[in-house]
Amino acid sequence: MTTPRHFTGDTLVIATHNPGKVREIADLLRPYAKSFKSNIELGLPEPEETGLTFVANAELKALAAAKAGHIALADDSGLVVPALGGDPGIYSARWAGPTKDFRIAMQKVEDGLAGKADRSAYFVCALSLAWPDGHMETVEGRCYGTLVWPPRGEKGFGYDPMFVPDGHDLTFGEMDPAKKHEMSHRADAFRQLVERCFR
Ligand code: IMP
Repeated sequence: MTTPRHFTGDTLVIATHNPGKVREIADLLRPYAKSFKSNIELGLPEPEETGLTFVANAELKALAAAKAGHIALADDSGLVVPALGGDPGIYSARWAGPTKDFRIAMQKVEDGLAGKADRSAYFVCALSLAWPDGHMETVEGRCYGTLVWPPRGEKGFGYDPMFVPDGHDLTFGEMDPAKKHEMSHRADAFRQLVERCFR
């Protein structure tokens, strides 16, 4: 295995137009960069997510931003349900439709699971750090669990109300957000990336 490349710049670009994501990622990586910028401030468009995997989508977004001259970080995440052949997977956001209604998306998952014994699922978070010369360091974090019905809890977002992480009884929607953040797919991915590129 080749030695991973370390982040050595002052500014890290967070390749998204989502202000919530910028804040969350900047908070996690605060000790390792002097400043953070996003695609919004840099006037960079968000490329179409044409990849067929979480990793491919994270990489294409990071690379597009890095080509503008900065080291850039992008993520892609979603819920994988093996009994649904991996759906909704990279289409997790799209399953909520134009109104971004995750009750619709969760109902679609539940309908697909009708009569199926396997209710296992996992969240995935791919993170890719890209350099202007095209080099990339990419990691994938996971969090395994079981899907329950009806959905429970108002604390999370997306598919959280139907996901119970392994070893727990509460859904991510019922759990204290700080506790979710310790065990989530995002936490797993950031731990790996910090270890690889920021320490
Ligand atoms: P992204 O912003 O393109 O990565 O889309 C991720 C989608 O996956 C979100 O819209 C959610 O539906 C789903 N997702 C990702 N992470 C989580 C999570 O921690 N809880 C619930 N849903 C999630």
